[in-house]
Amino acid sequence: MDAILADPGVRIVVCCGSGGVGKTTTAAALALRAAEVHRRRTVVLTIDPARRLAQALGLSELDNTPRQVKGTSAELSAMMLDMKRTFDEVVLAHTDPAKAEEIFANPFYQAMSSTFSGTQEYMAMEKLGQLYAAGGWDLIVVDTPPSRSALDFLDAPQRLSRFLDGRMLRVLLAPARAGGRSVFNLMTASFGVFARAVQRIIGNQLISDLSGFVAALDSTFGGFRQRAEQTYRILQADETAFLVVAAPEPDAIREAGYFAGRLAAERMPLHGLLLNRVHQVAATELTEPASLAAAQSLAAGGEHPVTVDALKVHALLARQVARETEVAARFTVEHPSVPVAEVAAQPADVHDIDGLREIGVSLSARAS
Ligand SMILES: Nc1ncnc2c1ncn2[C@@H]1O[C@H](COP(=O)(O)OP(=O)(O)O)[C@@H](O)[C@H]1O
Ligand SMILES: [Mg+2]
Repeated sequence: MDAILADPGVRIVVCCGSGGVGKTTTAAALALRAAEVHRRRTVVLTIDPARRLAQALGLSELDNTPRQVKGTSAELSAMMLDMKRTFDEVVLAHTDPAKAEEIFANPFYQAMSSTFSGTQEYMAMEKLGQLYAAGGWDLIVVDTPPSRSALDFLDAPQRLSRFLDGRMLRVLLAPARAGGRSVFNLMTASFGVFARAVQRIIGNQLISDLSGFVAALDSTFGGFRQRAEQTYRILQADETAFLVVAAPEPDAIREAGYFAGRLAAERMPLHGLLLNRVHQVAATELTEPASLAAAQSLAAGGEHPVTVDALKVHALLARQVARETEVAARFTVEHPSVPVAEVAAQPADVHDIDGLREIGVSLSARAS
């Protein structure tokens, strides 16, 4: 991990993986280490930090711009994605203020900008594109949304394109251009039938809201898609390093394998598997059976009760470590060329700068 964080050619690190595996935590820890140890001007874009972690990073002001993190003297900024506000910024950047106002006021925009499935993924990419374009950072570390599907982040640009290019949208566009030209004339006729049916059900106002929204959005079509595709290409470039984060558990490892395959298919540069919450034993030579046997014989003599307990705990831990090693190997067998770094399971949740620092140390100490 240190080699990646120190490499001046690496400008973007993306932490992806299924939900709950530690993407947000490791993204913050990697960013902190890049800033403190490798002296790189770093910004971390978090999506959904736990409340206490957000506080520790100084993310109480939700103004959608990076702020210097207070608990460190290194150049580390953090921000939390505000999906709605990012969408607003996109609209403002691509239309004139009057058009923008019209879009903001539209109930369809309001619904889509806060709940449209895929919006969070797309806006994370949009924000990444903005940070990248703004310059001023040596390294941008990106957390990814807690999607049900671990692949949504990659799908975002195509999905948005599909939505904006969709037949449905084009059909709906027709009435706003009534009296307009060519292609739309045919559709206008069928839309008339469709619109009358819908009007009966949902009412007039809604229809004019929708066609107004779509007409306004139409003027920004090129902008939206172009930027999504631009960011997509940045993600494919050599300066980007994808890390798949996983816990050493069957479900997470299976998803990690799938993700690695998908990244390869998209020609996205996968630089490593970050195995998070890995357990360790202090005495590696002492096997589980040997530990249990020793505990048994000591207990039989009625001596050293504390040692007996310690041996039993060691045996449990040794079994866990063996199971985790076996599960992690499933990934390595399928993707032998992907390096693996491990992060030790911490005794408690990670919610402050010191905790993040510990994760960073763990990351660089235990490479395999
Ligand atoms: N190595 C670790 N040791 C102990 N707790 C961890 C570790 N990594 C993450 N956690 C905890 O697990 C929870 C989920 O982590 P988070 O980073 O929010 O996951 P994700 O972003 O993938 O959903 C958080 O409470 C976090 O503090
Ligand atoms: Mg998260």
